[in-house]
Amino acid sequence: MELFDVYPLFDITPEKAFGCVVWDNKANQYLDLYGGHAVISIGHSHPHYVQKVAGQLQQIGFYSNSIQNPLQKELATKLGEISGYDSYQLFLCNSGAEANENAIKLASFETGRKKFISFSKAFHGRTSAAVSLTDNPKIIAPVNENPNAKILPLGNLEEIEKELAKGDVAAIIIEGIQGIGGIIIPDASFLEGLRELTKQYGSLLILDEIQSGYGRSGKFFAHQYAYIEPDIITVAKGMGNGFPVGGVLIAPEIKPWAGMLGTTFGGNHLACAASIAVVDVMNKEDLVENAEKVGNFMMDELNAIDGGFSVRGKGLMVGIEFPVEVAGIRKKLLFEHHIFTGVSGKNMIRLLPPLCITEEEVSTFLKAFKEVLAIN
Ligand SMILES: Cc1ncc(COP(=O)(O)O)c(C=O)c1O
Repeated sequence: MELFDVYPLFDITPEKAFGCVVWDNKANQYLDLYGGHAVISIGHSHPHYVQKVAGQLQQIGFYSNSIQNPLQKELATKLGEISGYDSYQLFLCNSGAEANENAIKLASFETGRKKFISFSKAFHGRTSAAVSLTDNPKIIAPVNENPNAKILPLGNLEEIEKELAKGDVAAIIIEGIQGIGGIIIPDASFLEGLRELTKQYGSLLILDEIQSGYGRSGKFFAHQYAYIEPDIITVAKGMGNGFPVGGVLIAPEIKPWAGMLGTTFGGNHLACAASIAVVDVMNKEDLVENAEKVGNFMMDELNAIDGGFSVRGKGLMVGIEFPVEVAGIRKKLLFEHHIFTGVSGKNMIRLLPPLCITEEEVSTFLKAFKEVLAIN
């Protein structure tokens, strides 16, 4: 059987990884400034993580969601503490799209409404309701076309209020920082405006923190740069450091009933062990603080380079935007300097390294980056 060929691939075969370093099958060493799409949070193969996941597998890897699983409660408690949302409730699932799908469903149940607002350049995943709120017609199949999805420009509170005032909007969904859309940071005042308006018109506010959450921005959630508490927050990516897991954090006012949401695999023992290990390491190694410190260092150093590009980001979620296409720069970084980076669109290099990255490792990148741009 052939693989269904949907991914353009680099001809590199990683075999081993540790911290921010990856080795391929020819023993070449790479520096990872992308974390496999913002997934690696505490670093590749962290010993505590390996021990927790392997140890759990030796005990029990999976049962269903019809039995007691104390690991789910341990994870919810630890996530509540580290995020500052200890009064919220946690629903566990398996991916970012699934987390958003459940958040959307929950908001619709809670309000009895069907309409959702999202923003231009947003990305919320590829499943049915989530993709209908994703601003990329290429990935919306006819079955995903949704007359109840309204995509509005980011930042225009007046236009949003007009839509909310119709009284039929279940929720607004917004990324803490737009990732795939090009590291676009919503103003704190805009988020605070959304919070006020959604309350005023009986709609909910969903923060998609799948890429920008879990410490990446230098705060646990990127929206915590503003003074807001959303009704629903979605997480995935960094939550499992590579183990597929997602979660929905739900405000205490939203009450569950048996069977309201569900999944076979969500919250399984292995996923919980991986996610608990992530929070343990983030606490022990102060990784949120490290993301802020090393992120600031990286952005200051990048801003000091006169290279015809502009830089934006927060913490370790950084975009370097050029007036020209960046595919060549990225290829040189990868094949000549062995550094993994990502892109947003055609003109932006996107950096999403593990949160344990050091200033020395960032300096290695900066040196290579200047060489690629032929800057002394
Ligand atoms: C902001 C955001 N939401 C949702 C998703 C979808 O997550 P997943 O690929 O785990 O379904 C992504 C993935 O890139 C994302 O960046």
